[in-house]
Amino acid sequence: DVRAELVVLANRLPVDRVVHADGSEDWRRSPGGLVSALAPVMAANRGAWIGWPGDVMEECEIFEHDGITLVPIGISQQEYEEYYEGFSNATLWPLYHDLVAKPEFHREWWDAYVAVNRRFAETAAEVAAEGATVWVQDYQLQLVPSLLRELRSDLRIGFFLHIPFPPAELFSQLPWRRELLEGLLGADLVGFQLSGAAQNFIRLVRQRVGHKTHRDTVYLPDGRTVVAKAFPISIDTAQFEKLAASPGVQARAKQIRDDLGNPRRIFLGIDRLDYTKGIYARMRAFSELIHDGHFSVEEATFVQVASPSRERVDQYRKLRDETDRLVGHINGDLGRIGRPAISYLNASFPQSEMAALFVACDIMVVTPFRDGMNLVAKEYVACRLHEDGALVLSEFAGAAEELRQAFLVNPYDINGMKAQMLAAYRADPKDLGRRMRAMRRTVAENDVANWANAFLTELTTPRPAHDKHLRP
Ligand code: G6P
Repeated sequence: DVRAELVVLANRLPVDRVVHADGSEDWRRSPGGLVSALAPVMAANRGAWIGWPGDVMEECEIFEHDGITLVPIGISQQEYEEYYEGFSNATLWPLYHDLVAKPEFHREWWDAYVAVNRRFAETAAEVAAEGATVWVQDYQLQLVPSLLRELRSDLRIGFFLHIPFPPAELFSQLPWRRELLEGLLGADLVGFQLSGAAQNFIRLVRQRVGHKTHRDTVYLPDGRTVVAKAFPISIDTAQFEKLAASPGVQARAKQIRDDLGNPRRIFLGIDRLDYTKGIYARMRAFSELIHDGHFSVEEATFVQVASPSRERVDQYRKLRDETDRLVGHINGDLGRIGRPAISYLNASFPQSEMAALFVACDIMVVTPFRDGMNLVAKEYVACRLHEDGALVLSEFAGAAEELRQAFLVNPYDINGMKAQMLAAYRADPKDLGRRMRAMRRTVAENDVANWANAFLTELTTPRPAHDKHLRP
């Protein structure tokens, strides 16, 4: 019987269940920024984490892992298709990322989204201790705050959105826009990556639900208030620094450089294979720099890690094919024996291998068309212990609001991107040092523990109910 004081809900548990060919089971760290950010926070707080074990299964027992109590939520094959692949990743994901792909609206998908959100809320209602703090994560669970409040009015409920929250003009396409806003308003505190996103939300609440708002506060007719503001997420900076300094990672980094033939400069991309990440555009920019004669494949090479993601969703399947084809073209045109222009790895790697890549490579290229934050950019900075290396970063990543000293780019502008990648390639070490030092300070001062503390402190600070008759 679990009765936790701190409960986190996220679509995924921090570990995924994998079943091997011989039928044996294993747990593997789940993909994505959300899990990287929250796993250290939860281990430190000994909380309970409610989520999906990443595999279609109806039943699974509560268990412990790395100091966290894990409460698995079963999801049927049909729910997997309609709630996860459908509404979460073919409706909300593209809608919240500037319509980089066209969102699909299906009524059955919405029904499945409501049903799964209800299951999460019911489980949280059973697991949370009297007066506990419940922290709901991300776009897959936006109805949970209000569903949970109906079941348990004693709880403090927070919600954090890890991805962008779109402007009213885009959000308003959603046939269930009002239901979603009301779902979020079940929380006491709604957190976003950027203040612009919080403002989008406040404006929509006023326009579409008709509640009174003032600055970051929504005044509900029943006297409750909801605060919406920005809490830019970060990484466990000290842990990455430690990893980067470890002899194993250092040796592996040297080996990576040797394996690549010790070129002058190594460019690096690490992303989930997602159409929001701008992988295709950056490959084109890099190949044109070689084609135009700015450097040869002996002088510069590109390592692109693209971890498989949401592979059965149409848009992702298409992206995989297009990227495969482009990389094949580029290497066919520009590569030499033992010297491909791009080393393309369609795989996921453990954190130590990522750290070795961050240490080994000179120019990190992060060029999403839209990204809530992008933790990979911060991880690269944390791993540059010698204050060298360059970060090429999209203006449309949340991280660009903090990492101002990066080589900032508009990923839609291929020529502009080429110019910045070349500037990073040619930059003198003093300039790179100045930029990297400033970015390292930012990432050292704002780590993921600060992020979680700031959110949880704001959530648990008592707030007087407002007087219904004296609303602003
Ligand atoms: C992003 C989202 C997370 C999600 C992750 C991986 O970081 O914000 O909520 O878990 O991508 O995507 P997946 O669909 O595999 O969980």
